[in-house]
Amino acid sequence: MGLIVGNWKMNTTVTSAIMLANAVKVQIEGQFGPEVVVCPPYVSLYSVSETLRGSRISVGAQNMHSETNNGAFTGEISAEMLAQICQYVIVGHSERRTYFSETDLFINLKLLAALSAGITPILCVGEKREDRDSGRAHDIVSSQLDANLNGMDLDSKIVVAYEPVWAIGTGQSASPEIAQDMMFHIREILADLLGNQSEAIPLLYGGSVNEDNIGVYVSQADIDGALVGGASLNAGAFCRLIANASRTER
Ligand code: PGA
Repeated sequence: MGLIVGNWKMNTTVTSAIMLANAVKVQIEGQFGPEVVVCPPYVSLYSVSETLRGSRISVGAQNMHSETNNGAFTGEISAEMLAQICQYVIVGHSERRTYFSETDLFINLKLLAALSAGITPILCVGEKREDRDSGRAHDIVSSQLDANLNGMDLDSKIVVAYEPVWAIGTGQSASPEIAQDMMFHIREILADLLGNQSEAIPLLYGGSVNEDNIGVYVSQADIDGALVGGASLNAGAFCRLIANASRTER
């Protein structure tokens, strides 16, 4: 069974987030298919989790702070706070790495804090255009995984999303061959780091995924689903993407 995650990024108000969540819930109700997660902005997490209560859609946060003790961190949200309303949290998204200067160490601490609060982290890794052009894509992804998973218990429940930075929001999705090749590499690294347990880790592709191209990704040997940005903001398009993912699952 696959996994489709919708990352709403900095979009929707509380009102439109509830409407979007409800529309997705109604459209996929009763249908068999991949597990579905939506990640609204913080301010809508509670309302969306209430809207989706009892449905087959889980809720994820888009970010969190690494500090495990609540306290004087103005403007930040802890894993403990999220644990009441979320099952998942995205960590290490390239937009956070780039625009908010998040380091591999900070991402590692977030991942560990999420796990200790019982939330499943969706760890994003991926190379920039210049890394791919210079033949360093595999090395970049290896070093991100090495650093970001440091100290993790071998049997922890995590999800890994490969999102080449050049494919995010650009309409230039990675070819299925590029995506599968990197997923195979990621599987090998995870096996090295975590042993046999790593086979259970879902691997998602992200970067300009839509209802038309989802099929080619989920039919690859090492791709279990997708992390979807833009195409998750329209209920109809997102639900067709989910349906196409289940139709073509390998
Ligand atoms: P996109 O975003 O689907 O709009 O390319 C993906 C992501 O950033 O997770």
